[in-house]
Amino acid sequence: MNIILLGPPGAGKGTQSAGLVERHGMRQLSTGDMLRAAVKAGTPVGLKAKEVMDRGELVSDEIVSDLIDAELAAMGQETGVIFDGYPRTAAQAEMLDAILARNGRVLDHVIELEVDEDALVERITGRFSCANCGALYHDTANPPATPGVCDSCGGTEFKRRPDDNEKTVRTRMQEYRAKTAPILPIYEARGIVSRIDGMAPIDTVAEQIDAILRG
Ligand code: AP5
Repeated sequence: MNIILLGPPGAGKGTQSAGLVERHGMRQLSTGDMLRAAVKAGTPVGLKAKEVMDRGELVSDEIVSDLIDAELAAMGQETGVIFDGYPRTAAQAEMLDAILARNGRVLDHVIELEVDEDALVERITGRFSCANCGALYHDTANPPATPGVCDSCGGTEFKRRPDDNEKTVRTRMQEYRAKTAPILPIYEARGIVSRIDGMAPIDTVAEQIDAILRG
Protein backbone atom coordinates (compact mmCIF):
# COMPACT_ATOMS: atom_id res chain seq x y z
CA MET A 1 0.00 0.00 0.00
CA ASN A 2 1.37 3.43 -0.97
CA ILE A 3 -0.38 6.51 0.37
CA ILE A 4 0.07 10.28 0.39
CA LEU A 5 -0.86 12.25 3.52
CA LEU A 6 -1.69 15.77 2.47
CA GLY A 7 -2.52 18.80 4.59
CA PRO A 8 -1.19 22.21 5.64
CA PRO A 9 1.58 22.62 8.23
CA GLY A 10 0.45 21.22 11.57
CA ALA A 11 -2.42 19.20 10.08
CA GLY A 12 -1.05 16.06 11.75
CA LYS A 13 0.77 14.35 8.86
CA GLY A 14 3.81 13.45 10.97
CA THR A 15 1.71 12.36 13.95
CA GLN A 16 -0.48 10.09 11.83
CA SER A 17 2.49 8.73 9.86
CA ALA A 18 4.13 7.62 13.12
CA GLY A 19 0.92 5.78 14.06
CA LEU A 20 0.76 4.04 10.68
CA VAL A 21 4.37 2.93 11.02
CA GLU A 22 3.59 1.45 14.44
CA ARG A 23 0.25 -0.16 13.56
CA HIS A 24 0.99 -1.42 10.04
CA GLY A 25 4.77 -1.59 9.69
CA MET A 26 4.65 0.95 6.87
CA ARG A 27 7.61 3.20 6.11
CA GLN A 28 7.28 6.99 6.51
CA LEU A 29 9.05 9.07 3.86
CA SER A 30 8.98 12.66 5.11
CA THR A 31 10.83 15.11 2.89
CA GLY A 32 10.79 17.59 5.80
CA ASP A 33 12.59 15.08 8.06
CA MET A 34 15.07 14.20 5.28
CA LEU A 35 15.84 17.86 4.67
CA ARG A 36 16.28 18.56 8.41
CA ALA A 37 18.69 15.58 8.60
CA ALA A 38 20.63 17.02 5.64
CA VAL A 39 20.78 20.46 7.31
CA LYS A 40 22.02 18.89 10.54
CA ALA A 41 24.68 16.87 8.70
CA GLY A 42 25.77 19.95 6.71
CA THR A 43 25.52 18.16 3.35
CA PRO A 44 25.38 20.19 0.08
CA VAL A 45 21.61 19.60 -0.02
CA GLY A 46 21.29 20.76 3.59
CA LEU A 47 23.32 23.91 2.93
CA LYS A 48 21.05 24.79 -0.02
CA ALA A 49 17.83 23.97 1.86
CA LYS A 50 18.44 25.66 5.21
CA GLU A 51 17.62 29.28 4.38
CA VAL A 52 14.64 28.32 2.22
CA MET A 53 13.20 26.23 5.06
CA ASP A 54 13.84 28.95 7.63
CA ARG A 55 11.77 31.32 5.47
CA GLY A 56 8.97 28.73 5.18
CA GLU A 57 9.29 28.50 1.40
CA LEU A 58 9.54 25.35 -0.71
CA VAL A 59 12.86 23.70 -1.54
CA SER A 60 13.40 22.85 -5.23
CA ASP A 61 11.33 20.08 -6.81
CA GLU A 62 14.45 18.26 -8.03
CA ILE A 63 16.10 18.15 -4.59
CA VAL A 64 13.10 16.63 -2.80
CA SER A 65 12.25 14.24 -5.64
CA ASP A 66 15.85 12.96 -5.71
CA LEU A 67 15.62 12.29 -1.96
CA ILE A 68 12.40 10.28 -2.40
CA ASP A 69 13.77 8.43 -5.44
CA ALA A 70 16.89 7.34 -3.54
CA GLU A 71 14.88 6.07 -0.55
CA LEU A 72 12.45 4.09 -2.68
CA ALA A 73 15.19 2.57 -4.83
CA ALA A 74 16.88 1.26 -1.67
CA MET A 75 13.68 -0.30 -0.32
CA GLY A 76 11.96 -3.61 -0.99
CA GLN A 77 8.67 -3.34 -2.91
CA GLU A 78 6.81 -5.27 -0.21
CA THR A 79 7.08 -2.39 2.29
CA GLY A 80 4.13 0.01 2.21
CA VAL A 81 5.05 3.70 2.06
CA ILE A 82 3.50 6.87 3.50
CA PHE A 83 4.52 9.99 1.61
CA ASP A 84 4.47 12.72 4.28
CA GLY A 85 4.83 16.25 2.91
CA TYR A 86 5.54 15.10 -0.65
CA PRO A 87 4.46 15.88 -3.34
CA ARG A 88 3.88 19.58 -2.71
CA THR A 89 3.71 20.97 -6.27
CA ALA A 90 2.30 19.83 -9.62
CA ALA A 91 5.86 19.19 -10.84
CA GLN A 92 6.55 16.96 -7.81
CA ALA A 93 3.31 15.05 -8.43
CA GLU A 94 4.49 14.37 -11.97
CA MET A 95 7.94 13.33 -10.75
CA LEU A 96 6.38 11.00 -8.17
CA ASP A 97 4.40 9.22 -10.90
CA ALA A 98 7.65 8.53 -12.75
CA ILE A 99 9.46 7.44 -9.55
CA LEU A 100 6.64 5.06 -8.58
CA ALA A 101 6.52 3.55 -12.07
CA ARG A 102 10.31 3.01 -12.02
CA ASN A 103 9.99 1.26 -8.67
CA GLY A 104 7.00 -0.91 -9.66
CA ARG A 105 4.64 0.81 -7.21
CA VAL A 106 1.11 2.15 -7.51
CA LEU A 107 -0.50 4.95 -5.49
CA ASP A 108 -3.48 3.59 -3.53
CA HIS A 109 -4.78 6.56 -1.54
CA VAL A 110 -4.34 10.30 -1.13
CA ILE A 111 -5.68 11.30 2.28
CA GLU A 112 -6.25 14.97 2.94
CA LEU A 113 -6.37 16.12 6.56
CA GLU A 114 -8.80 19.04 6.64
CA VAL A 115 -8.06 21.54 9.36
CA ASP A 116 -9.09 24.93 10.64
CA GLU A 117 -6.15 27.16 9.75
CA ASP A 118 -6.59 29.39 12.80
CA ALA A 119 -5.89 26.40 15.07
CA LEU A 120 -2.72 25.46 13.21
CA VAL A 121 -0.57 28.27 14.50
CA GLU A 122 -1.39 27.19 18.06
CA ARG A 123 -0.64 23.55 17.18
CA ILE A 124 2.69 24.36 15.60
CA THR A 125 3.97 26.80 18.16
CA GLY A 126 3.12 24.22 20.88
CA ARG A 127 4.90 21.36 19.11
CA PHE A 128 8.08 19.72 20.42
CA SER A 129 9.79 16.39 19.89
CA CYS A 130 12.08 13.98 21.69
CA ALA A 131 15.71 14.84 20.88
CA ASN A 132 16.60 11.15 21.04
CA CYS A 133 13.89 9.29 19.06
CA GLY A 134 11.91 12.11 17.40
CA ALA A 135 8.52 11.22 18.99
CA LEU A 136 6.15 14.17 18.50
CA TYR A 137 4.33 16.00 21.31
CA HIS A 138 2.28 19.12 21.93
CA ASP A 139 2.35 21.32 25.05
CA THR A 140 -1.39 20.85 25.73
CA ALA A 141 -2.96 18.48 23.13
CA ASN A 142 -0.41 15.68 23.33
CA PRO A 143 2.10 15.98 26.21
CA PRO A 144 4.20 13.00 27.41
CA ALA A 145 2.38 10.88 30.05
CA THR A 146 5.12 11.72 32.57
CA PRO A 147 6.17 15.36 32.19
CA GLY A 148 9.71 15.65 30.87
CA VAL A 149 10.05 11.95 29.94
CA CYS A 150 9.51 10.62 26.38
CA ASP A 151 6.75 7.96 26.23
CA SER A 152 8.57 6.09 23.45
CA CYS A 153 12.20 5.90 24.58
CA GLY A 154 12.40 7.41 28.09
CA GLY A 155 14.58 10.29 26.81
CA THR A 156 14.57 13.52 28.80
CA GLU A 157 15.86 15.98 26.17
CA PHE A 158 13.32 17.69 23.90
CA LYS A 159 13.65 20.16 21.01
CA ARG A 160 11.59 22.62 18.95
CA ARG A 161 11.93 23.27 15.20
CA PRO A 162 13.47 26.63 14.13
CA ASP A 163 10.67 27.12 11.55
CA ASP A 164 7.91 26.67 14.15
CA ASN A 165 7.29 30.38 14.73
CA GLU A 166 4.18 32.30 13.76
CA LYS A 167 5.75 34.31 10.90
CA THR A 168 7.21 31.24 9.16
CA VAL A 169 4.06 29.20 9.76
CA ARG A 170 2.00 31.85 7.94
CA THR A 171 4.36 31.65 4.92
CA ARG A 172 4.17 27.81 4.99
CA MET A 173 0.37 28.03 4.95
CA GLN A 174 0.47 30.43 2.01
CA GLU A 175 2.78 28.06 0.13
CA TYR A 176 0.36 25.19 0.85
CA ARG A 177 -2.65 27.14 -0.44
CA ALA A 178 -0.86 28.40 -3.55
CA LYS A 179 1.17 25.36 -4.62
CA THR A 180 0.07 22.19 -2.81
CA ALA A 181 -3.74 22.32 -2.53
CA PRO A 182 -4.00 22.78 -6.33
CA ILE A 183 -2.51 19.28 -6.92
CA LEU A 184 -5.56 17.58 -5.34
CA PRO A 185 -7.58 17.61 -8.60
CA ILE A 186 -4.85 15.49 -10.23
CA TYR A 187 -5.62 12.70 -7.76
CA GLU A 188 -9.37 13.39 -7.63
CA ALA A 189 -9.48 12.62 -11.35
CA ARG A 190 -8.05 9.18 -10.47
CA GLY A 191 -10.71 8.63 -7.77
CA ILE A 192 -8.19 8.04 -4.95
CA VAL A 193 -8.74 11.10 -2.70
CA SER A 194 -10.34 10.78 0.76
CA ARG A 195 -10.89 13.64 3.20
CA ILE A 196 -10.72 13.42 6.97
CA ASP A 197 -11.53 15.88 9.72
CA GLY A 198 -8.03 16.63 11.00
CA MET A 199 -9.46 18.66 13.89
CA ALA A 200 -10.75 15.49 15.56
CA PRO A 201 -8.69 13.92 18.39
CA ILE A 202 -5.53 12.10 17.23
CA ASP A 203 -6.97 8.60 17.87
CA THR A 204 -10.16 9.40 15.96
CA VAL A 205 -8.16 10.63 12.96
CA ALA A 206 -6.12 7.40 13.11
CA GLU A 207 -9.30 5.27 13.15
CA GLN A 208 -10.62 7.13 10.11
CA ILE A 209 -7.36 6.59 8.22
CA ASP A 210 -7.43 2.86 9.05
CA ALA A 211 -11.03 2.66 7.78
CA ILE A 212 -9.89 4.15 4.44
CA LEU A 213 -6.99 1.68 4.20
CA ARG A 214 -9.35 -1.24 4.90
CA GLY A 215 -11.42 0.00 1.96
P1 AP5 B 1 7.58 19.63 6.82
O1 AP5 B 1 8.48 19.10 7.85
O2 AP5 B 1 6.92 18.69 5.87
O3 AP5 B 1 6.52 20.57 7.54
P2 AP5 B 1 4.97 20.90 7.25
O4 AP5 B 1 4.35 20.37 6.03
O5 AP5 B 1 4.90 22.37 7.44
O6 AP5 B 1 4.23 20.06 8.26
P3 AP5 B 1 4.55 19.92 9.76
O7 AP5 B 1 5.62 18.92 10.00
O8 AP5 B 1 4.76 21.28 10.35
O9 AP5 B 1 3.13 19.44 10.30
P4 AP5 B 1 2.44 18.02 10.34
O10 AP5 B 1 1.25 18.04 9.44
O11 AP5 B 1 3.41 16.89 10.19
O12 AP5 B 1 1.88 18.07 11.83
P5 AP5 B 1 2.34 17.25 13.14
O13 AP5 B 1 1.89 15.84 13.04
O14 AP5 B 1 3.77 17.52 13.46
O15 AP5 B 1 8.35 20.69 5.92
C1 AP5 B 1 9.18 21.69 6.50
C2 AP5 B 1 9.85 22.49 5.39
O16 AP5 B 1 10.69 21.64 4.57
C3 AP5 B 1 8.89 23.17 4.38
O17 AP5 B 1 8.42 24.41 4.85
C4 AP5 B 1 9.79 23.27 3.14
O18 AP5 B 1 10.69 24.36 3.25
C5 AP5 B 1 10.61 22.00 3.18
N1 AP5 B 1 9.96 20.88 2.44
C6 AP5 B 1 9.53 19.70 2.97
N2 AP5 B 1 9.00 18.91 2.01
C7 AP5 B 1 9.09 19.61 0.84
C8 AP5 B 1 8.69 19.34 -0.49
N3 AP5 B 1 8.07 18.19 -0.84
N4 AP5 B 1 8.93 20.28 -1.44
C9 AP5 B 1 9.57 21.43 -1.13
N5 AP5 B 1 9.97 21.77 0.11
C10 AP5 B 1 9.72 20.85 1.11
O19 AP5 B 1 1.39 17.97 14.23
C11 AP5 B 1 1.64 19.32 14.66
C12 AP5 B 1 1.36 19.43 16.16
O20 AP5 B 1 -0.05 19.23 16.40
C13 AP5 B 1 2.08 18.38 17.02
O21 AP5 B 1 2.52 18.99 18.19
C14 AP5 B 1 1.02 17.30 17.31
O22 AP5 B 1 1.22 16.68 18.57
C15 AP5 B 1 -0.28 18.12 17.29
N6 AP5 B 1 -1.40 17.37 16.72
C16 AP5 B 1 -1.37 16.53 15.63
N7 AP5 B 1 -2.61 16.03 15.37
C17 AP5 B 1 -3.44 16.60 16.31
C18 AP5 B 1 -4.85 16.48 16.56
N8 AP5 B 1 -5.65 15.70 15.81
N9 AP5 B 1 -5.35 17.20 17.60
C19 AP5 B 1 -4.56 18.00 18.36
N10 AP5 B 1 -3.22 18.13 18.18
C20 AP5 B 1 -2.66 17.44 17.16
